[in-house]
Amino acid sequence: MQILVTGGAGFIGSHTVVELSQAGFTPIIVDNFSNSEKKAIAGIEHILGKSAPYYDANCNDEVAMRRIFEQNSIGGVIHFAASKAVGESVENPLKYYENNLGSTLLLLRLMGEYGIKNLVFSSSCTVYGQPDSLPVTEETPRQEAASPYGNTKRICEDFIRDLVHSGALLKAISLRYFNPVGAHESAAIGELPIGTPSNLVPYLTQAAAGIRPKLTVFGNDYNTPDGTCIRDFIHVVDLAKAHVKALQLLNGIDSDNYHEVFNVGTGEGVSVMQLIETFEAVNQVKLNYSVGPRRPGDIEQIYAQVEKVNQIMGWKSEKTLEDSLRDAWRWQLQITNNK
Ligand code: WQD
Repeated sequence: MQILVTGGAGFIGSHTVVELSQAGFTPIIVDNFSNSEKKAIAGIEHILGKSAPYYDANCNDEVAMRRIFEQNSIGGVIHFAASKAVGESVENPLKYYENNLGSTLLLLRLMGEYGIKNLVFSSSCTVYGQPDSLPVTEETPRQEAASPYGNTKRICEDFIRDLVHSGALLKAISLRYFNPVGAHESAAIGELPIGTPSNLVPYLTQAAAGIRPKLTVFGNDYNTPDGTCIRDFIHVVDLAKAHVKALQLLNGIDSDNYHEVFNVGTGEGVSVMQLIETFEAVNQVKLNYSVGPRRPGDIEQIYAQVEKVNQIMGWKSEKTLEDSLRDAWRWQLQITNNK
């Protein structure tokens, strides 16, 4: 079955393309390479040992997207393509609303026109804001997102939910990711932040590789055991496999009208300091870091309750934090040494 993977050259997208192919699907990538590189395609092909067909196109471009639907017999869509920098979204909300909402609306319209019924949407735990109780379940009330980026994820979830509830011929799953980290064990694909990374692990591995002078820990005065923020860090390959499981679940649904939301995390909360210490221990590397002020907009702690995805989708994370940090470091060394 052909699966259109928007944003398929990105961090999570590229890992999902690999897992889709290895599970017997035929992924077709569409990516405008605004936040990814063509070398991700080469990495995918290296792992799979075959070509990875892709379209260099913008998901907001109706002519281009219509051509893709015309030229293929798509059986399902995984929609990753989105602008995703939290900080940038605060400075440039229009870009985020136009890109993230526009591409989703266009996709939903074209799927209806071409009779494509299976959709997996890339959402985020950011829709929960700072939850009142932990771990968060799918029933935990979503809160006003701390950023326009987070708002676009919440609004797109609602687009999809309301379209299914209207009776459309659509089976859709929204996956709320926690913090994706790590890289494929081959080090052929991984996270390729453009410019200065805003996320913890790519910044940390760049600091450890000497690309950055040091890592700054954004605050250690939170109300947590060691004072640093707590997150649910999930290996990107485990997350990629959750998308395959979601598609398989949709394929097994008899009715043509279905909607569900799933948390996709490990279910474990890990602090920034615990992650740093684990990185140093598992890679035998001393990291230069210091504690600085809190980063505005950061929530104190969040981690997932994962019973629903375990029981309904039959998925659970298998890789450990050590695996994630070992794979992230191997990937960093690979890209540093092959610059
Ligand atoms: C994690 C922790 C920082 C950098 C965001 C989005 C989320 C998803 C993942 C897209 C925080 C601390 C970080 C650094 C640090 N993105 N940190 N020094 O903010 O939890 O989630 O990225 O889908 O939607 O909201 O991830 O990696 O930026 O931060 O101390 O140099 O690491 O304060 O506590 P975050 P992050």
